[in-house]
Amino acid sequence: MNHEHLYNIGWKAFAALAPEEKSRYLVRADGNPFHTLFAHQFDKNKLEDLIALANAIRQIAKTRAGSYFLRELVAHKRAMLYFSQPSSRTFLSFLSACQILGVQTGEVRDTSTSSEFKGESREDSVRTFSSYFDLIVMRSQEKGLAERMAWVLSNSERPIPIINAGSGKDEHPTQALLDIYTLSRSFERSGGLRNRTVVFCGDLLRGRTVRSLSKLLLNFDNIRQIFVAPPSLQIGEDILTMLRGRGAEYAVMDDLRKAIPEADAVYMTRIQDEWDEKRGESAALDTSRFVFGLEELALLRPKSIIMHPLPRREEIAVEVDRDPRAMYWRQMRNGMWIRTALIAQTFSTAQRVHDYFKQNM
Ligand code: CP
Repeated sequence: MNHEHLYNIGWKAFAALAPEEKSRYLVRADGNPFHTLFAHQFDKNKLEDLIALANAIRQIAKTRAGSYFLRELVAHKRAMLYFSQPSSRTFLSFLSACQILGVQTGEVRDTSTSSEFKGESREDSVRTFSSYFDLIVMRSQEKGLAERMAWVLSNSERPIPIINAGSGKDEHPTQALLDIYTLSRSFERSGGLRNRTVVFCGDLLRGRTVRSLSKLLLNFDNIRQIFVAPPSLQIGEDILTMLRGRGAEYAVMDDLRKAIPEADAVYMTRIQDEWDEKRGESAALDTSRFVFGLEELALLRPKSIIMHPLPRREEIAVEVDRDPRAMYWRQMRNGMWIRTALIAQTFSTAQRVHDYFKQNM
């Protein structure tokens, strides 16, 4: 693995780089990410490779012999699931992905039970994990922490990979991977992921999944992005600047019903009041134009889909779940397959999966 790149640059110099420039310090010799930290580490070819790998794994896992093959694939590896911020889907899908591949796991989900409680630094905690494990999957409420820890590990004697499982309000790259997988699968029989309109709705300012997916959508031809949110929770100017710089079409709106008829995909998100700076700040907002119920469903085109990274609150009515266009439960399961593919790729076993598929499926 070609992780030595991060040896060649100091932390301050690395942290100061533009996001796109950071990616070249994170690649292995085969061009795939060593550390998976940002959505923009994935171009269209890498996304297609990962989707093909997830599809192969998904098929192989359906047979008993195939599931035994997968369970042997990286059975000599161990992964630390270091989730210091709450999670259900990301944690459980990474855990399931490790189980599919035979990777044994350890976990810290509450730092009051680890020596961080005694004042150990994050750097020392992560170096401790690297003494026992071969991969760290890491969620944190702190923006940029996964990046800093990746730099620390790459400058240690045990430079194991880090996968960012959600950092602060900033990035959730593996959610964006599963979202792209879901969009690709949903449109594979109707022209693929191109010439589409994706409507994002909800708390777009503090929703890291939207930020990461918005970046990944730039890899596909003619994708228009529409951002629908209360003015105080609208998407960050940095994302709009990025879209303008790439010549991508976008619109900013404040009424979901006006956007739905144009959508191929409506991507709902919850109001993330855990980030409120003042108590009750979000509760005081009128969010009635940012919910998806049966009236909104009636406005959705027959082949369009509804997505949500979950968890949800009231922004999608449960009555909508029964509609075949409601994709969020399948989207969640897709996360397990794409994360299995990412771990298999991180441990350089993609070719073995494809070879097994060709010989046995
Ligand atoms: N979508 C997502 O990240 O969900 P969890 O917070 O439950 O992991």
